[in-house]
Amino acid sequence: MKSPCAGLLLALLLAAAVATPAAEHAPGASAIASAHPLASEAGNEILRAGGNAFDAAVAVSAALMVVEPSGSGLLGGGMFLLHRASDGRNVVIDAREVAPRQASRDMFLDAAGNPVRGASTNTALAAGIPGEAAGLALLQSRYGKLKLAQTLAPAIRLARDGFDMYPRLQAGVGGKKAQLMQSAQAAAIWFPGGQPVPVGARVRQPQLAQTLAILAKEGVETFYKGAIAKQLVDAVQKMGGIWTLEDLAAYRAIEREPVVGRYRGATIISAPPPTSGGVALIEALNVLSGYDLNKVDGVTRKHLIIEAMRRMHRDRAVYLGDPAFTAVPVQRLTDPDYAAGLRTSIRLDRATPSAALESAPEAANAGTNTTHFSILDKDGNRVAATITLNAGFGSGLMIDGTGMLLNNEMDDFSIKPGVPNIYGLVGASANAIEPGKRMLSSITPTFVESPRGYMIVGSPGGSLIIGMVLLATLDFVDGRSAQEIVAAPRIHHQYEPDTLTYEVAALTADEVAELKRRGHDLRARDSWGNLQVVIYDAATGKVSSASDPRGVGTAGLY
Ligand code: GLY
Repeated sequence: MKSPCAGLLLALLLAAAVATPAAEHAPGASAIASAHPLASEAGNEILRAGGNAFDAAVAVSAALMVVEPSGSGLLGGGMFLLHRASDGRNVVIDAREVAPRQASRDMFLDAAGNPVRGASTNTALAAGIPGEAAGLALLQSRYGKLKLAQTLAPAIRLARDGFDMYPRLQAGVGGKKAQLMQSAQAAAIWFPGGQPVPVGARVRQPQLAQTLAILAKEGVETFYKGAIAKQLVDAVQKMGGIWTLEDLAAYRAIEREPVVGRYRGATIISAPPPTSGGVALIEALNVLSGYDLNKVDGVTRKHLIIEAMRRMHRDRAVYLGDPAFTAVPVQRLTDPDYAAGLRTSIRLDRATPSAALESAPEAANAGTNTTHFSILDKDGNRVAATITLNAGFGSGLMIDGTGMLLNNEMDDFSIKPGVPNIYGLVGASANAIEPGKRMLSSITPTFVESPRGYMIVGSPGGSLIIGMVLLATLDFVDGRSAQEIVAAPRIHHQYEPDTLTYEVAALTADEVAELKRRGHDLRARDSWGNLQVVIYDAATGKVSSASDPRGVGTAGLY
């Protein structure tokens, strides 16, 4: 089902719900919103088998790798924001990739100090040491009720027996043909007989099924220290990469405290560095909390949101990186007083030129890269997970015999100060390449808790992610439904380029004219994002969920 539907009506103690915003209430219904119906169904299968939201998250992640292989994979990474109902604990599993030990600051530059075209995106050197398998194993063992063998079973079946090719995936595969054709096995899966798999035809990935089955049987050790590790290192080195067995053996998924902020009576719980998402989201909300967005006229509301986006992306570029390597001023950036200082440079009648703040290129297509899903189980456990290979299908290079694609996450580092990555994002030394360092991300898996109840939210979209979660948060606080939130037209500003991009439906002709008059440079572009939302309503006890109509996913109640 695409649209949210009513859940069970519970007898709630409303006063308690307001004091502790619904966090400890068992909603009685489960909900999953993900980017593909078969992934949502895989999660549902695990819930039906007695699993909790964390078990379901492993199943949904694994199924997405199979049916939406452009968005994520075992050789990628991501972050899982969890809420455990039994003790109210919020925690983030950081499964972000790390730079190999032989990586170096200038590894993607030529002798003249210029970036080598494609080196950080299309080669084996572009691959960070993957975190996805370690993250799933940690999630399963520490928070799940079932065993990995059980939660991976739906994905193994989907890889072995196949699923039907759909237009969005076919378009993505077509865009990555040159890279995918470099592996005989990838070519056989995606271009049998040299032609793309037709829409509706069965896609089978027997090698991936086998890899998942080995993981299920032998556990994650084999991936980082055993036979699969050796296979990965041999293949990557043969392709010109620098992975070693030591790199894989040293990888750890890390549990981190979420970042927390407030906005108009709501509590924002989101992912900390090495993603910039949570910090930037809270900074922008702090800036906006100095205005009453519902009292200003519509175009001024948008102007202010743009100015907040501009400032959060400027600080992202300057300050954010892996906290193990650089002192990220999280406290300062998320402090309301800091936001008050930022507000002093905002004029209601004029856009602030980004150059007046300091300096960063064109937001690239954010189509089928990365994926997000949101889960709530009947006991109140929650998961907001955003997982990625970086670009669609990562580098597109497959490790033969495994069915797995290499990520190209190294491009998320600042490969040279001021040089944009594929999302047009620039960075500084805080996000320069260093061995063992995690590259800065924009993923923003988030919970928003308020007297209204709570929302579980996130989206793929590279540099566009943080702004989408910001708009969704404003809409949730304003009382909009899950369906309204995912469908709402979008605007985006990322500091550099100093251009407001917008979906055509987001601005009226009058608003376009007025924003131009205030000094904004505007550009309409194709729609973006794939927001997945679950909402628990404290007043009614109802659960609702919605999957972005721009994608092919489903949101359902179970
Ligand atoms: N690879 C995209 C991100 O993590 O932001």
